Amino acid sequence: MRVKASAPGKVILFGEHSVVYRGPAIVLAIDRRVEVLAEPRGDDLLFIEAPDLGVSGFFHEGRYHPAAGGRRGEGVLRPLWVAVERTMERLGRKTGVSLSVASEIPIAVGLGSSAAASVATVAAVGELLGGGLTPEEISLLAYEAERVVHGTPSGIDNTIATYGGGLVYERGKGMERLESLREIPLVIGNTGRSRSTGELVGRVRRLREKYRTLVDPIIDAIAHIARLGREALLEGDLWRMGELMRMNHGLLWALGVSSPELDRLVNAALEAGALGAKLTGAGGGGCMIALAEPDRLGAVSTAIERSGGSSLRAGISRSGVRVWRVEG
Ligand code: MEV
Repeated sequence: MRVKASAPGKVILFGEHSVVYRGPAIVLAIDRRVEVLAEPRGDDLLFIEAPDLGVSGFFHEGRYHPAAGGRRGEGVLRPLWVAVERTMERLGRKTGVSLSVASEIPIAVGLGSSAAASVATVAAVGELLGGGLTPEEISLLAYEAERVVHGTPSGIDNTIATYGGGLVYERGKGMERLESLREIPLVIGNTGRSRSTGELVGRVRRLREKYRTLVDPIIDAIAHIARLGREALLEGDLWRMGELMRMNHGLLWALGVSSPELDRLVNAALEAGALGAKLTGAGGGGCMIALAEPDRLGAVSTAIERSGGSSLRAGISRSGVRVWRVEG
């Protein structure tokens, strides 16, 4: 038997970084997905190939043996090994597995590719071993893999990759699903600079340890922006959303997680008539988003590209993780 599963990437509209501490974040699944093909093996190895990333290798008793792409493959593939191990422990079954991972989501730029890969891996391997995992279990098992990637994740990335659509997510409190969301006129701008979420979350943590009385009010202000952003989003008030996005970017800048490239793309989008723009995800490089009236989206994309970024138009993905059996 062979099984495929896929899960979507995401953009955070409001509340990244603050959500690690308190308060909500607003996140949308995008119609770019990671797909994982899983098949059983006759031995006890886990083999993973990820041609889009140029890496492949084996895990045997927890040790990585590269087949292509050298040792750097270990950092990329280890979270998937964790996802597979936790899934097998949960289901009380063990077998060798081959995984093939294909991604439409650019990697390590804040669009949730690692969580989507973990969620799709748990779902595919879970089905291969007899199925029965609930979405909540899939998300929790993928969270274990996320912890390997970035230490103290809030859980937002695995949650959106599992459920899709639009969510208000709050650590420890769970999620509110935003049903009946209309399309939101967004452009994603990619600086092309990859970065590590764990490192950026650590940067904010260190700043907070040093300047607790300054950083906590910034975190509270971002959390408040996310609450107001939820209202504006539900009312379809693009102008207010734009204003809140601009403030959100300024506060993330103050937390030290923007970058000259991100600021350049944000400013270019605003100059081209975007209603609002901000970095999205962990920052430090990676992606920004710009909100614009539909007739300005083209001009905003062009401005992002002229400023050295690549632009991507993505719609909301209503569907979260999907899993299906493959014949042959
Ligand atoms: C990463 O997509 C979002 C962060 O807030 C980290 C997290 O919530 O785990 C930066």
